[in-house]
Amino acid sequence: MSDVTNRDQFGSRIGFILASAGSAVGLGNIWRFPFVAGENGGAAFVFIYLLLVFCIGMPVMLAEFVVGRRGQGDPVGSLRRVAGKAFMPLGAMGIIASIIILSFYAVVGGWTIKYTLDAVIGSLGTDVASAGAMFGAFVKNPFAVIGYQALFMLGTYMVVARGIGNGIEKFCTIFMPVLFLLLIVLAVRSVTLPGAAEGLAFYLKPDFSKVNGSMVLAALGQAFFSLSIGIGVMLTYGSYLNKAEPIVSPAFQICFLDSFVAFIAGLVIFPAVFAFGFEPGAGPGLTFVTLPAVFSKMPGGSIFAIAFFFLLVIASLTSSMSLLEVISAYFVDERRWSRKKATLVVASFTFLLGVPSAISLGGGLNLFGKSFLDAMDFIASNVIMPLGGMGFALLAGWLLHTMAREEFSDAHGVPSIIYPAWRVICCVVAPIAIGWIFISGLKW
Ligand code: PHE
Repeated sequence: MSDVTNRDQFGSRIGFILASAGSAVGLGNIWRFPFVAGENGGAAFVFIYLLLVFCIGMPVMLAEFVVGRRGQGDPVGSLRRVAGKAFMPLGAMGIIASIIILSFYAVVGGWTIKYTLDAVIGSLGTDVASAGAMFGAFVKNPFAVIGYQALFMLGTYMVVARGIGNGIEKFCTIFMPVLFLLLIVLAVRSVTLPGAAEGLAFYLKPDFSKVNGSMVLAALGQAFFSLSIGIGVMLTYGSYLNKAEPIVSPAFQICFLDSFVAFIAGLVIFPAVFAFGFEPGAGPGLTFVTLPAVFSKMPGGSIFAIAFFFLLVIASLTSSMSLLEVISAYFVDERRWSRKKATLVVASFTFLLGVPSAISLGGGLNLFGKSFLDAMDFIASNVIMPLGGMGFALLAGWLLHTMAREEFSDAHGVPSIIYPAWRVICCVVAPIAIGWIFISGLKW
C-alpha cells in the first residue's frame, strides 16, 4: 500500500480546477471538436454534445473524484482500496488507455510545436493546396515528425517530473489563463470577419434530421475524450485534492470551462472557414491544412496564426501531463518507484509506442483501413473511454453511494437534488445511454 501521508497535493482549489481543466482542455477541444462537429453536421452535433457533457460526463467525473479521494492513489490502488480486488481491472484498463492516448497525443502535440515555429518564421502555407502539400510533406518525413514528437514528450516529462504542486499545478495556473485570453481574442477576430455569418449559422443552427446513431456515438466519444473521463485521469487528480475541498462545484466548473473552450474554438474556426470559402468537413486536416490558408487571407493573420498554434501547444501540454501523471502514479503508488524514475520510464516507453502512429500518416501504416493513429484514437476514445465511464458510473452509483453522499456534502451546501439526480444517472441513465449509443453507433 502506498504511503498516504506523504502524497503530493494540489496547493489550492483553483490550482486543482485549472489543472483538471488543463487536462480536459486540449487537442480534443481545439483540434478534434471542430472537425468532428464539422463532419457530423455542425449545430445538431454541438447540441447533443453539450447535453452529454452535463448529463453523463459530469456525473461520471464526480464518480471518479469520489473513488480517487477515498482511494488516495492511482486508479488500480484506489479501486482496490474502495471497492475490492475485483475492480482493479477497471483501473488497469484506464492506465492502458492512457498509454494508448498519450502515445498518439504526443505525435499531434509535436505537430503543434512545428506549426508554431513555422508561424513564427512565416512559412505556413498560403492556400489549401500549398498548406496541404506542406502538411503532407511534413508527415511523410519521419525524422521531423518523430523529432517534434520527442520534443513534445520531453516538455511533458519535464513538468510532470517536478510533481503535482510544483510542476503540473504551477504550469497550469500560469498558462491556462493565457490560453483563455488568446482564445477570446481569436474568436473576436473570427466572428467580426466579413462573411462570418454563414459559418455561424452552420455552427449554431441545428438541423436535427442529421441525428443518427453514429453521430451520437461520435458526440459521446468526443465528450468523454474531451473531459478526460472514463480512464482514471480525473480519479488520480481527485486523489491529490485536499479532503477539505468540495468536489461538486469544481466538477461543474471543469465541465463548464471545457465545453466553453470547445464552443469558442468552433467560433474561432467556422466563421473564418466559411468567410474564406473553405470546407468545414475537412477532417483532421482542418486545423493543419485549412487554418493556415485561412490565416493567410486574414488581415493580421500571421500574428493570429502564431497565437493560435501557441495556444494549441499549451492546451496539448496540459493534457498530456495528466496522461503521463496517471500512468506514472501507478508505478509510484503501486510499485514504489520514485517519481523521477516512473516519469522517465513511462515517457520513454510511450514515446516509442507512438512511433507507429507518428509514421502512419505519411507511410500508410494502416490497421484495417484506418491509419494507425486514427485506429489508436478510435479504440481509446470510442471503445475504452465509454466502457470505462460506464464501469465507474455503475460502481459509484450501486456500491459507493454512501461514500459519494459524504464526499458531495460541502460547507456551502450542495443543492439537495444533486445527490439523488447523480445516483439515478449513475445507476441507470448513464449505463443504459452509453450501452445503447455504443451498440447502435459502433462502426469502425
Ligand atoms: N481531454 C484531452 C483533450 O481534450 C485529452 C485527454 C483524454 C486527456 C484523456 C487526458 C485523458 O484533448
